[in-house]
Amino acid sequence: MKNKVRELLEHVEKFSSQKLEQVEEFRIKMLGKKGEITQLFEQFKTFTSEQKRELGKDLNELKTKTLEKINSFKELLEQHQGKSAADFDLTMPANNEPAGSRHPISIMKNKIVDIFKRLGYTVAEGPEIEDDWHVFSALNFPPEHPARDMQDTFFIEKNPDILLRTHTSSMQVRAMEQNKPPIRIICPGRVFRNEAISARAHCIFHQIEGLYIDENVSFADLKQTLLYFAREMFGKDTQIRLRPSYFPFTEPSAEMDVSCKICDGKGCNVCKGTGWLEVMGCGMVDPNVLENCNIDSEKYTGFAFGMGVERTAMLKWQIRDLRLYFENDIRFLRQFCSVI
Ligand code: PHE
Repeated sequence: MKNKVRELLEHVEKFSSQKLEQVEEFRIKMLGKKGEITQLFEQFKTFTSEQKRELGKDLNELKTKTLEKINSFKELLEQHQGKSAADFDLTMPANNEPAGSRHPISIMKNKIVDIFKRLGYTVAEGPEIEDDWHVFSALNFPPEHPARDMQDTFFIEKNPDILLRTHTSSMQVRAMEQNKPPIRIICPGRVFRNEAISARAHCIFHQIEGLYIDENVSFADLKQTLLYFAREMFGKDTQIRLRPSYFPFTEPSAEMDVSCKICDGKGCNVCKGTGWLEVMGCGMVDPNVLENCNIDSEKYTGFAFGMGVERTAMLKWQIRDLRLYFENDIRFLRQFCSVI
């Protein structure tokens, strides 16, 4: 009997199976009505009390170990019942993860581009690492001119002619150099300025530049285009106003404000009591810039405008701090799941 118990214990310890039916067969073989262990217990009854004392503990241990083994295999295999490795489709999306969303900067960029596409503008993209000509000189910023201070620039130390573009207006120049009017383009892109990071400024941000060059393009066309944009973006009853401003490459130049939606123009803390929110810079392309790009300024006129993507999104969705865009906080990003 002692040997038999040891033999069965070894057998139990070695037992392993991938199939529930095999586990059940093993249970019947060991613990069923005519099972090996059941039979040992039958024999046990006939033993003298001295034999019982000697074998009882081993026999009980064999039974407990067998039950433990059977139950652990059953539990494991029931969890994966009917599933083999081949049944898992690894290309299926995970169930428990909430749907992701585009980043708010991308959502806003697409919205702006879509509005201008409806007006017949096409998208033009260009380099982020630029030269002095395309970012400054061709745009009427002479070397050493104080207007360059408006855009604190990252220069490449070894060659100050190479720099990170400070605005997407460099694309005006490239588009005019490469195409003959009529030109109607929208240029989204990343720009870089040497600014300390704060709630309102960042050294990397995004702009969208617009340019329209043709015969007889007037300031009225600019105003109508921007009014259409403002109403598509901020709502049908949005008002705009153009405030005189200065850019070296446009003359006249203006800042476009939209009426504040929060207070309906009455004045609140978002619009700082003015009833207006500044959205973008704009103006008629300076004839010098047209000539720099080999376009006849006697024949053609045009307008340009440029806006910050982060800023427009802040106005649209009342985002209070620019740093939120770059922190990758999932609680912020999730709020844009339903915005397309
Ligand atoms: N490039 C200007 C800026 O970054 C914006 C602008 C674009 C102004 C086009 C007028 C026309 O501040």
